[in-house]
Amino acid sequence: MDKHIEKIQKYLHNGRAEDMDNRIERLRKYIDEILLNMKDTEERRCAYLHLYGVSQACAMIALKRNQNVELATMAGMLHDLHSYKTMNTENHAEKGAVLARQILEELSLTTEDETDLICSAILNHSSKAITHSSFDEVLKDADVLQHCLYNTLFPVMEHEKCRYQKLLTEFGILQNL
Ligand SMILES: [Fe+2]
Repeated sequence: MDKHIEKIQKYLHNGRAEDMDNRIERLRKYIDEILLNMKDTEERRCAYLHLYGVSQACAMIALKRNQNVELATMAGMLHDLHSYKTMNTENHAEKGAVLARQILEELSLTTEDETDLICSAILNHSSKAITHSSFDEVLKDADVLQHCLYNTLFPVMEHEKCRYQKLLTEFGILQNL
C-alpha cells in the first residue's frame, strides 16, 4: 500500500519528492491513506477530485485576498474528509471540524491558533448564505469554485450562482450566468 501511495503522490505532485517534507504534503500523505482505503472507486475518485480541487482553489483565492495560503490549502484538504471517510454527510461541517482538529493535533502540524483558524473555516463552510471571517470565506468560495469548474458545461447550481458570479467578477472574468 505504501508504494501505491508513493506512486500516486509522485504523480499528483509532479514527482517532486524533495517537496514532501512541508506541512501541506505531510497532511496530504495522511489524507491520501484514508482516501485509498475507500472501497467505492467512484466515491474515491470524487474525494480526490474535490479535496485536491478545493485545496488548490483555496490557494488561488487566498493568494488573491492576501490570506494565509498554506493554512487555506490545508483547510481545503480537510474540509469534507469526514464525509468521505464515513460516507455520511449528516452534520458534515461540524463533524469535519472535529476530525480536522484530531488530525492536526495527532500530526502536530499546527499551532493552537492555526488549528482554530482551519477548524473555524471547516465548521462554517456549509453556511454559504452567510458571510463569516475573511479566512472562512476563502474555503466557502473554493468549495463553490471547484463544483462550478469541474465541468463548465454543466449548469451552475442555483444556490451557488451568486458566489460563483462574484468570484468570476473578482478574478476579472466578465460573464453573466
Ligand atoms: Fe466541499
